[in-house]
Amino acid sequence: MDFKTQAAPAAGLSSLAVDALLVVVVGQAVPAALDKPLTAMLNDAVKHGDFEFKAPRCLYLHRPAGVKAARLAFVAAADGSAKAFKAAVASGLGQLKALGVTELAVASVGGEALTSAHAEALVMATTDAVYVYRHTKPSAPAAPKLATVALIATKTQTSALAGGLRQGQAVAAGVGLARECANRPGNHATPSHLASEAKKLGKQFGFKVEVFDRKRIEKIGMGSFLAVAQGSDEPPRFIVIQYHGAARTKAPLVLVGKGITFDSGGISLKAGAEMDEMKFDMGGAASVLGTMLAVGELRPKVNVVALIPTCENMPGGRAVKPGDVVKSLSGQTIEILNTDAEGRLILCDALTYAERFKPAAVVDVATLTGACVVALGHHNSGLFSSDDTLAGELLAASRSALDPAWRMPLDEEYDEGLKSHFADMANIGGRTGGAITAAKFLQRYTKKYPWAHLDIAGTAWKGGSAKGATGRPVALLTHFVLGRAD
Ligand code: BES
Ligand code: MN
Ligand code: ZN
Repeated sequence: MDFKTQAAPAAGLSSLAVDALLVVVVGQAVPAALDKPLTAMLNDAVKHGDFEFKAPRCLYLHRPAGVKAARLAFVAAADGSAKAFKAAVASGLGQLKALGVTELAVASVGGEALTSAHAEALVMATTDAVYVYRHTKPSAPAAPKLATVALIATKTQTSALAGGLRQGQAVAAGVGLARECANRPGNHATPSHLASEAKKLGKQFGFKVEVFDRKRIEKIGMGSFLAVAQGSDEPPRFIVIQYHGAARTKAPLVLVGKGITFDSGGISLKAGAEMDEMKFDMGGAASVLGTMLAVGELRPKVNVVALIPTCENMPGGRAVKPGDVVKSLSGQTIEILNTDAEGRLILCDALTYAERFKPAAVVDVATLTGACVVALGHHNSGLFSSDDTLAGELLAASRSALDPAWRMPLDEEYDEGLKSHFADMANIGGRTGGAITAAKFLQRYTKKYPWAHLDIAGTAWKGGSAKGATGRPVALLTHFVLGRAD
């Protein structure tokens, strides 16, 4: 899809010769700037109860008289923000995307001037609307034919908006990669597959990519990661991607993604209902790959390292058992009381491995706990950090990226549940506060650098009738990385 800005005044929208025109209406009345034909149509629609200035109301008109566009949709926005604009574009596209539209123009009327955040939001909403998963379902309906999208703006705005469109396309491509990886079933999106996606990124953008196999992981001493991997015939991988956008001497950001390509629970086997969704348990890894793609496209002046421990969590004759004690790369021993708390077991070794990069900050991303879904639902990712500056940066990134996160506590008191009779710690806490005890477990491996943890168990994918990966939090992470660039 091609995105561009197009200079045109609100008073000239009727004369735009496009396939489809989407007019986002901000405010509680017909905007004064709108030209005559459009004003008359809106007034008439309001009078007859066909339109209201209330999100997400939509009005579709086919070959409207006095308007050059073949198709016209009005959509009400809740306010003039980028967030409301994104929601309005998404609902407008709901009307238009099934049609034969190839070129779309989008205008916003009645609000303040558009910003680069609106431009980025437009790209995100549009690419989201046209994504169709087809890798293992070639019979899926064809993707919409939308080829060009023009954002209508005044001449003075167009260059700022072009920057937003460019950034949006990079982020959207990253989101697309994350969704595609996570949507693929466990027998396709294996650890080796994630490694080959990483290699592809390396080729495309000149990243240094290393992939460690089981032998090499043993040699490094990642006993905790290997304990999870040992129950599966599918070989584990540890993936290291390095991007240099700044001087080699500059401390990098390290992103760590949980890459469990299928989480059966292991010997602590999960219940059958919705177990298929545990193919999405590599959503953290997918989002880190997606973020690296966006970084490769945008080339910010910052160094970034991606670390992805990836394996299956399976029961079997060689699988790790409740009560087994393993030695992590850090030297700390872990009593595995529940083999279904495996995410933290693969992450802790990656977090220790991160030390060798002398990082400026480490952010891990993981579909870590069902408890986080109970706490925050499917809207906010859980953010944990004892570093207020880092937490503030990530929250700011989540807001600017329209990829919400909510800060969670890490008080010392939550650590108590991790006590073990037979090892330095157990891998589970008590019955309550499960998202927090999981974060406390990880925190024990992150003493050497500023660290934050994103629990994306509720946000990485959708269940039910809209089942599929969301590509979150690629947007948040990319904005965070861009915020650290010189
Ligand atoms: N991958 C799951 C977390 C998860 C569960 C994400 C449901 C999304 C939906 C994780 O590995 C897990 O199984 N966690 C356990 C931890 C428990 C055993 C302490 C959980 O949340 O039940
Ligand atoms: Mn699990
Ligand atoms: Zn898991």
